[in-house]
Amino acid sequence: MGSVPVANVPRIDVSPLFGDDKEAKLRVAKAIDAASRDTGFFYAVHHGVDLPRLSHETAKFHRTITDDEKWELAIRAYNKEHQSQIRSGYYLPIPGKKAVESFCYLNPSFTPDHPRIAHPTPMHEVNVWPDEEKHPGFRAFAEKYYWDVFGVSEALLRGYALALGQQEDLFTRHFRRDTTLSSVVLIRYPYLEDYPAPAIKTADDGTKLSFEWHEDVSLITVLYQSDVQNLQVKTPQGWLDIEADDSGFLVNCGSYMAHITNDYYPAPIHRVKWVNAERQSLPFFVNLGWEDTVHPWNPAGEEGGKKEEEARESVSYGDYLQGGLAGLIKKNGQT
Ligand SMILES: [Fe+2]
Repeated sequence: MGSVPVANVPRIDVSPLFGDDKEAKLRVAKAIDAASRDTGFFYAVHHGVDLPRLSHETAKFHRTITDDEKWELAIRAYNKEHQSQIRSGYYLPIPGKKAVESFCYLNPSFTPDHPRIAHPTPMHEVNVWPDEEKHPGFRAFAEKYYWDVFGVSEALLRGYALALGQQEDLFTRHFRRDTTLSSVVLIRYPYLEDYPAPAIKTADDGTKLSFEWHEDVSLITVLYQSDVQNLQVKTPQGWLDIEADDSGFLVNCGSYMAHITNDYYPAPIHRVKWVNAERQSLPFFVNLGWEDTVHPWNPAGEEGGKKEEEARESVSYGDYLQGGLAGLIKKNGQT
């Protein structure tokens, strides 16, 4: 196959979003606005997070976890004894069928005495962790990372709100440490000695895929990846490669943002190419709380509406997330 052209994915210095200089913030917002209306992706740089350390700690965890431990931590889809673990836990590889594996964890504030755990509400779970003696420091590191990337996401959400011409707390007033349904997923794509052992999906255009096309189920997604090119975004020019950059967070809107902005900021359609390389993909799916609702409006003005009136109904974040995750599993299969 011929080489695929590269998508325009600007690198945006987001450091002003952590400060008080309103003019500088508005310049960042303008860059976010342009990216959101072009390919839908940008790299956030100067974010303040130690990404080499994230990669190192995650690699150590993936390298040292045993099959028995994966089974003990497995989500319900893999271990029927774990009925309350729908989201949080280990997603196992299946030899000969599925090479990818991952570990997902939710808000560390979801402890047994959290009101939505004590009175169970869908999408809320207490995280499971591997034995501290076998993985010293891993839980502490992972929980710290959750709050680090939460802080970056708060700054980015201030930027998105300004980009949309709104008060800068439009999103952050609903993005709270005690209620956020955001998740971290530590995905490992292994190098395969006996390629092509697992069944590899092939797209309509012949491209070998690890994950078929989709829109993210999120408000926004804040992703660290290894320096290995794999993502493609669908544009009016066709599928374009997104260049890898392990110094930045790759940021894009999910379908909740598309819904509330009447597609002024669409959720870009993207897919994961199959690449035979040991690599990491570590997304933070930025989610609001169960009852939070951002009411849809028309940022483009009265004439700019793309959808019919009924398509712009208010949807609570909890209902959106529950339906969206179920729909993604139905479409692309269990990860
Ligand atoms: Fe995605």
